[in-house]
Amino acid sequence: MLDSIRLLNLPKILDDRGNLSFFENSNQIPFDIKRVYWIYDVPGGEQRGGHAYKDLQEVIIALSGSFDVVLHDGREEKRFTLNRSYYGIYIPKMIWRHLDNFSTNSLALIATDEHYNPDQYIRDFGQFKHLVNE
Ligand code: TYD
Repeated sequence: MLDSIRLLNLPKILDDRGNLSFFENSNQIPFDIKRVYWIYDVPGGEQRGGHAYKDLQEVIIALSGSFDVVLHDGREEKRFTLNRSYYGIYIPKMIWRHLDNFSTNSLALIATDEHYNPDQYIRDFGQFKHLVNE
């Protein structure tokens, strides 16, 4: 299942006045966006996430600074370092994920295909492993 995770190389318009990147609904990212949120002011050493989504896809971008996205499919773990604002990581449903190793002033942007719904979350890793391996 970790095979379905993709690093997206977003468009980059280089310009002496400053560079520009973008994504559009279901063009550069493979779903229709229903929600965008961002994580910022993360104190050193903190983690965010630590859950899976039952039926929700997302793309995570380090708009500023850097952090690691740690993914687990119930069998193996993979760590991605995001440190450029033109890379996105696409994460399908039912992947356990957390974010750590945040640099000072890092800014994580997350686009998803669902509204916020606490029922989407699996917050117990044991339960997650049971569900994906059954
Ligand atoms: P949570 O998803 O648990 O954060 P993380 O995955 O980074 O640990 O969300 C933290 C809180 O913010 C929780 O009380 C729900 C709220 N929240 C919203 O209201 N809307 C959202 O879009 C998100 C992502 C969270």
